[in-house]
Amino acid sequence: MAPRAWQASMSVGIETFDHEHRQILAMLNLLQDAIDLDDARTARLLLDALVGRLAEHFLSEEAYLRGSPGLDEHIRHHDEARAAIADLNRQFHAGGLTATALVARLQDFFVDVLIPEDQRCIGGMEPLGRQEKGAD
Ligand SMILES: [Fe+2]
Repeated sequence: MAPRAWQASMSVGIETFDHEHRQILAMLNLLQDAIDLDDARTARLLLDALVGRLAEHFLSEEAYLRGSPGLDEHIRHHDEARAAIADLNRQFHAGGLTATALVARLQDFFVDVLIPEDQRCIGGMEPLGRQEKGAD
């Protein structure tokens, strides 16, 4: 499977989140490498780390958006993403998806759904919470 590398066109305009998105894509590519090498132990560890990193990333974006009008919508989107990721994991553990298919679905979901949603919701937004902090 061809790795999906981070590209400038994926930028949300905020370095912290671009960095986190690059990390998550890199973890997906490492996971595929472990699968290609039949290294099941490393693949399991990377999959657990990836799910944990995604959860942290969602919370990081939600904290950034605290107080902004887009927060509730982005939390709803993250809740749908958490459910979709859990469903892919369930399919994988039930034998309905190969490891490579799981990584491909996660990559496609991350690049084609999550990042564009971040660009729409977060990109260029000045969170109200940050403005208020400056007024303290
Ligand atoms: Fe994101």
